[in-house]
Amino acid sequence: MHPATMTAGESRGHSGLPPVVISNEAGDPALQVALGRRLFMDPQLAEDGTMACATCHIPEHGFALNGAPTAFGRGGRVLRRNSPTVLNAALATSQFADGRMATLEDQIWGPLLSIEEAWNPTVQDVVGRLEGRADYREEFRAAFAGRKVSARLVGAAIAAYERSLATGLSRFDRWRFGGDAAALSPAERAGYDVFQRSGCPTCHTVGTEFATFTDNSFRNTGVEWARLRGAFGPAKSVPDEGRFEVTGRESDRRAFRVPSLRNAGVTAPYMHDGSLATLADVVEWYDAGGGSDPGRDPVLRPLGLAADDKANLVAFLQTLTSQDLERLVAEARGTPGAGTLRPRKL
Ligand code: HEC
Ligand code: HEC
Repeated sequence: MHPATMTAGESRGHSGLPPVVISNEAGDPALQVALGRRLFMDPQLAEDGTMACATCHIPEHGFALNGAPTAFGRGGRVLRRNSPTVLNAALATSQFADGRMATLEDQIWGPLLSIEEAWNPTVQDVVGRLEGRADYREEFRAAFAGRKVSARLVGAAIAAYERSLATGLSRFDRWRFGGDAAALSPAERAGYDVFQRSGCPTCHTVGTEFATFTDNSFRNTGVEWARLRGAFGPAKSVPDEGRFEVTGRESDRRAFRVPSLRNAGVTAPYMHDGSLATLADVVEWYDAGGGSDPGRDPVLRPLGLAADDKANLVAFLQTLTSQDLERLVAEARGTPGAGTLRPRKL
């Protein structure tokens, strides 16, 4: 094994996750994670010092943004997409709802350079600001085998931290992979049956060794079509074409990446635009067969679920919350500089 390779979930029993390689950079992976955590929490990464990754991916909100359908950018500007959780982003084979970024390392420059978000004119502005601080200079050297601050290492540190946020260890994992038959209640187990017989695992994959709850494909569930027609409030005039914006393929129009369902119980609201407020709303959506988009995925069909099936399905989805979350929140808040960031009140 490469000396700097460390995997999440190792020696943690039946985590329910595939092994995740935290870092392939030379140096000390534990220090890389700690440095990445500090960068993630630090509002100084933004040009005006007011916005951190954690402003939109709030630890207390399941590393997402609860209570607002879409994120707020610079000056309170309303962005077009929901701020998703970064827990288990490491399991995704592409980043963003349209998959336009391949890796976590590349992904960070999206928000850091966006005129709507952290608004740094260039990558070098961020690197220069960090280099200008003795504490960061020292932390980069210690974490990355004596190397100095660079764009590549800023990406590597934040990505290492995000990979350390790959977290299974839910009650479902104890039940399915850990052999603990009592970890789920009868209603939750019945909900898992509903999940399976409703075809959910076609897209939200559950394997025999671990479960990512996504096949990483791009699918049209009809949400955007409905939104454009005013199903969730005022009709929208500018369509979000989803994966089509990246590939230009007609079959990708209004298709979005299948998200993992892990921790969905704490990362409301749902879908690429946050249009569904609760898990019960999501279940109703699927029960109706998704929206009426002519390009809707053919797998989706009306389910005809009884009221107790729906309640059980929601109960099952809530068993996917990691029991490691409190520790991850406490570690994030224990980071130097994080004290200036308060959980957002909505
Ligand atoms: C102004 C709010 C905001 C800030 C600041 C922000 N993000 Fe995000 N983030 C979002 C939104 C909104 C999306 C979804 C965008 C999309 O799908 O096109 C997102 C998506 C992501 C994703 C992809 C997750 C997925 O499932 O596809 C990752 C990873 C991520 N952000 C990490 C970060 C990191 C690291 C930082 C700091 C460098 C950061 N974000 C700063 C709002 C924000
Ligand atoms: C054809 C593939 C497919 C099937 C089948 C499917 N889903 Fe999904 N699911 C998706 C896609 C794609 C999204 C994201 C849609 C978007 O962003 O607009 C999603 C989103 C979700 C979300 C919201 C997650 C979040 O964080 O926003 C939940 C919860 C969910 N699905 C549960 C289910 C359940 C329960 C079933 C079975 C009744 C199911 N899904 C069946 C593709 C599918």
